[in-house]
Amino acid sequence: MRKVILAPSLLSANPLDIAGDIEKIKGQCDWLHIDVMDGHFVPNLAYGPNLVAALRSDENISLPIDVHLMVEPPECFIDLFLPLGVDYLTVQIEATPHAHRVLQRIRDSGVKCGIALNPGTPVEWVAPLLPFLDMVLVMSVNPGFGGQKFIPQVLEKAGWLYRERAVKNFNFLIEMDGGLGLENVHTAVRYGCDVIVAGNAVFGHSDPAFALKTMRDKIME
Ligand code: DX5
Ligand code: ZN
Repeated sequence: MRKVILAPSLLSANPLDIAGDIEKIKGQCDWLHIDVMDGHFVPNLAYGPNLVAALRSDENISLPIDVHLMVEPPECFIDLFLPLGVDYLTVQIEATPHAHRVLQRIRDSGVKCGIALNPGTPVEWVAPLLPFLDMVLVMSVNPGFGGQKFIPQVLEKAGWLYRERAVKNFNFLIEMDGGLGLENVHTAVRYGCDVIVAGNAVFGHSDPAFALKTMRDKIME
């Protein structure tokens, strides 16, 4: 079984004690997933560059930072994040007619670039971008909120990406985000996902580290 990356979403962390919640999970997780919402592309507001900067400058936190921008248009916001030392910066394909240009700018800054697809967006839309991508994020809920129900029809998108990557020798990671937990994480990995984002299943649990460990055990089953 290949290495699967667990990326808890801080959207479901305690907003009054984010550092405390990270402390609880840091031995059990691989990345930190940070959702940025603009109240326009998605009907909610969340997190911004000041949180990312604070996390990156905290010497107790050395985990890779995976930023998911749900903002429109992303070209107006990426410069706020590129200098902060983030590891992955992902933009939604539906949020710009110039996805290729945005990804190029991210890459030129030395940051790994990702493209995210809403559940209703055909996966083939990313085909021309695959050679340049470090990650494809398959949304398994409609973006905007934590704690929503998983949409199983998106699994086949991960399968398609997995096959394209193998046939054409691409290097991108396949990430899935939304409604993932103990009951479906194994299936997501079986369809080809390399990165599992989970918010509510981790921080909604009384013991978030235990939730992550159990999730990893489920993946190995
Ligand atoms: C949804 C966000 C997700 C969210 C996932 O728009 O992109 O990252 O935090 O939360 P859960 O795992 O609770 O569905
Ligand atoms: Zn996300």
